[in-house]
Amino acid sequence: MADLDGTQTEKKEKEFHTQTPQETPGFFLKGSHQYDWGLKNRLSRVFNPKTGRTIMLAFDHGYFMGPTTGLERVDQTILPLEPYCDCLMLTRGIQRSIIPASTQKAVALRASGGTSMVSPDDVWEGELDGKPLKLSRPGYEPLSYEDTAVDIEDALRLNACVLAVQVFIGSQHERRSLQNMTKLIDAANRYGIAVMGVVAVGRAMARTAQYFRLATRIMAELGCHLVKCYHTDEDFDTITSCCPVPIVIAGGKKRPELDALKMAYDACQQGASGVDMGRNIFQSDAPVPMMKAVRGVVHEGLKPEEAYQMYQDLKNA
Ligand code: R5P
Repeated sequence: MADLDGTQTEKKEKEFHTQTPQETPGFFLKGSHQYDWGLKNRLSRVFNPKTGRTIMLAFDHGYFMGPTTGLERVDQTILPLEPYCDCLMLTRGIQRSIIPASTQKAVALRASGGTSMVSPDDVWEGELDGKPLKLSRPGYEPLSYEDTAVDIEDALRLNACVLAVQVFIGSQHERRSLQNMTKLIDAANRYGIAVMGVVAVGRAMARTAQYFRLATRIMAELGCHLVKCYHTDEDFDTITSCCPVPIVIAGGKKRPELDALKMAYDACQQGASGVDMGRNIFQSDAPVPMMKAVRGVVHEGLKPEEAYQMYQDLKNA
């Protein structure tokens, strides 16, 4: 009974701090203050509590694009970037085969899939009056015919903080993709994992603030904990304003480094909670300097021009 002995011989007096009320701190992340502990803790691994922002490094493109430029060898191109991001957005195949299990980074796991960039259009081919006839359905959007692609138990085994699901508002398979999302939210809520709805812009959709306000708000209303969409040149602040949960921006196609840094900067100034960026980093001429420059803009208060100077200095060093 060492403990009991200890109470009798202990010299230090008990201190109950009766004059100091216990604090009831809030939570730093938009719309997330009423979640349970586990979910808040996972979100705090994705979003830096000091800045309220995140740098998610997106390299899940292979789930429908295969070995796209810059991702031919993830071990060679992505692992050197890992130290400078907050969160790895990836597929479970790459996570298990390439990412060291010793990583301290949060994981955002791609959780929808089932189609590819060569998925066939919805075409009917037959005969009419003895002549061949080919009919295609306009606006079919074959990429939008996704399913959920990860079971919640596997997400737990992989220690995911976030599940990412593609949502195709306004497409042929809008309803299906929204059901993928709500099913994942129900499963993820059981274990305190966050779900990120990813706005997928179909061929028929314009990348306008009006469209992104609609899409992000629908996803948040249906229970997403965070949302990813593209940045818009105009009125991006109206998108972040009326979405009650954090928005991160996708980088989109590769653009000049300064332009990408300006986009990340503007998005954060206009209410985004960070970036989920891929091609503009791993397809850069100098991916590690670009990764550090993005970090400068998102977390360290650098202006785009200052971050670009940092990029050039590091690239030329
Ligand atoms: C694409 O569908 C993937 O989900 C990417 O994660 C997303 O597009 C972000 O990557 P990028 O910055 O290259 O657009």
